[in-house]
Order: sequence, then C-alpha cells, then structure tokens
Amino acid sequence: MIRVFENADLSGRNSFHVAQHAARLIEFDKQAELPEIFGKLAPERWMVLSGGNNILFTKDYDGTLLTPCGRDIEIRSDDGTEVTVDVEAGVEWDDLVAWAVDNGLWGIENLSLIPGKVGAAPVQNIGAYGAEAKDAIRSVTMYFPEQGNFVTLAAEHCAFGYRESVFKHTLRGRVIITSVEFRLSRTPHPNLGYGDVIREVEARGGATLRNIRDAICSIRRAKLPDPAVTGNAGSFFKNPVVDIAVAERLQAEYQGMPMYPVAESGKVKLAAGWLIDKAGMKGHREGHVGVHDRQALVLINTGGATGGEVIEFAHKVQRRVHEKFGIEIDTEVNII
Ligand code: EPU
Repeated sequence: MIRVFENADLSGRNSFHVAQHAARLIEFDKQAELPEIFGKLAPERWMVLSGGNNILFTKDYDGTLLTPCGRDIEIRSDDGTEVTVDVEAGVEWDDLVAWAVDNGLWGIENLSLIPGKVGAAPVQNIGAYGAEAKDAIRSVTMYFPEQGNFVTLAAEHCAFGYRESVFKHTLRGRVIITSVEFRLSRTPHPNLGYGDVIREVEARGGATLRNIRDAICSIRRAKLPDPAVTGNAGSFFKNPVVDIAVAERLQAEYQGMPMYPVAESGKVKLAAGWLIDKAGMKGHREGHVGVHDRQALVLINTGGATGGEVIEFAHKVQRRVHEKFGIEIDTEVNII
C-alpha cells in the first residue's frame, strides 16, 4: 500500500522532534511499489526518511521523502547452525534483535535497543558494545530509481567501516534500501569485552542471549535519553580517528584519556564523549538545546528547539573541543 502525505509534518517522524515539513512524504509497504511510485509520482527531488533517528532537519524539505514500512522477517535458510534471515527495511531494529533473541539466534544481541529501522542499519553500520551491524549483514537489497531496477549487494561490496558504508558515499541519494539479509547463528558467540558488559551479564547469571540483551538494555537506559521522551539522535558526533602520535601527545597531557587502536591502520580512535566532557560541555544547555548530562556525545532538544538552534549549538561544542584539544569532531547525524 502507498500512502501519500502532502506538506507532511515531520515533528513525529524525527527523533529530535524538530517541527519541519516536507513538500511530500510517501509511505510504502512493499518494495514492488517503488517502480509505481517513481513512474506515477515522478519525484524530482527525493530522499529516504526511515525512522528519523539519525537525522536533523534544519529546514523544510522541498521534495519527496520516502518511508519504507514493510515489516516482514523471513527465514531464508537454516542448516541447524547458521540461519539467514531476510528483513524488510521498515522493521524496527530492536524488534529484529528481540526476535533473534527469542529464537535463540546469536549475532546482533549487543546491538539491542539501538533506535531506528533495519533499512538504516547498513547506512551508518550501526554499532555498540564491541559489535557492528556489518558483522551480521550478508547482503543489502536496494532499488535504483535512475535505472528502475533492484540490486542485491553482498556485504563485502558495501565498504563497511566505523559508522561508514558505500551508502554514505557513491550510493548516497541514489538508492532506496528495501531489505537486509542477516547471517545469525545458533552457536553461542558471547561478545562481552566492552566496558561494563561482562559485569552486567554476570550479575544476571551468565552469558545467555537473554542476559546479554537485558544487560545491554539496562546499560543503554542508564546512559542514553529515550527519544520518545527527550528529542535526540543518539551520538551526535563520531569518535575521531587520529594518528597515534597525536593520541600519544594528548595522553601524555591527559592521563587516563581513553583511546582505542584501529587495527592495521597506525591510527587510534578517541572518545568524542570524553573530549566534550573534559572540554566542560557535559550537561551544558543553551536555550532549548543541551549536551546530555550522562553521555556527552548526545545532544538533546529540551523542548521546542529548531534544527538551526541544534546545529549552532553543535558547532559551539566542536569549537570548544578544537580549542582545548586541537581535534576536529565530525557530526554523525545526517544534517539536512
Ligand atoms: N566518556 C566520558 N564522558 C562522556 C561520555 C564518554 O568520559 O560523557 C568516556 C567513557 O567513560 C569511555 C569513553 O568515553 O571511557 C567511551 O564512551 P562509551 O563507552 O560511552 O562509548 P562512546 O564512544 O561514547 C560509542 C557509540 C555509541 C555506543 C557506545 C557503546 C559512537 C559515535 N558512539 O559511544 O553509539 O552506544 O559506543 O558501544 O561510536 C550511537 O551511535 O548513537 C551510539 C549511541
């Protein structure tokens, strides 16, 4: 089914709760409807609006937003150990994780409670607690309106990296992701190496899928604001990746500064949240915008902020970090 909304109010469709409009918004349930949408409605300017969890509208969108709503989860193969699952783009990410855990399937449990929909997961290769979506993604199916065809791209051709993929670069604005295929496993693969995860899991009685999911949900709930209550888009900034020499210089000055080596690159990832925190911005508020008081990577709309206010505030945070540490932090959120 295709549903068309003219002059669509976006305030309930973006987790920052910013009140902008789109000239037109089209929801569709089945990927087979896309040729019809592009044939009949011929949007000249378009982009995908999925769950709206990683986007900041700073102005109205003068074009057509396309929202995939298909919610099927289908097992494609099961050899008793490995299971491949085809999931439509409109499935809530956490519903997929809950489904996998209920069915005894390992691979995405550390990504519990990440807001957003399955179709957006490959775009920024969502990640948390030592896991990334790319580790479980087998392929991504998408529609190319220019050519009018569907393509399934194997994961090895998706150029996945830390919050990176081909969908942010050469395929940006050219495709609509309609489904994602995952490879999950019945063999336990607990991944407990990150931060407090092991402690929280052991406190629950050990590394079962259910305990890991519960532990991650509890860690996230303690740190991250619920977008249903407080407007936010998760981490607003990416963790910066710098040369080892830069990181060592900073660590000599700031003992205990967290840094994570990036394998085989001679580079190190720093914690943007730590940098913002140590730049004195954690919990800082101006007008309707602020830095979350329990996780400095997250900017919040305390109520009624415009996208313009959020971005102005974000620039201030970036400037402060640069003044103090000489490090540039980039935004992770898609700014429109
Ligand atoms: N830190 C501070 N102060 C803060 C925030 C963090 O000192 O306000 C320190 C922490 O103590 C820790 C380090 O910085 O030593 C890293 O913090 P944390 O473990 O909370 O992870 P992160 O780097 O801040 C990343 C992801 C999150 C994900 C967590 C857990 C990015 C941009 N963010 O945050 O992802 O949940 O790891 O794996 O990579 C998201 O993308 O929206 C998101 C929430």
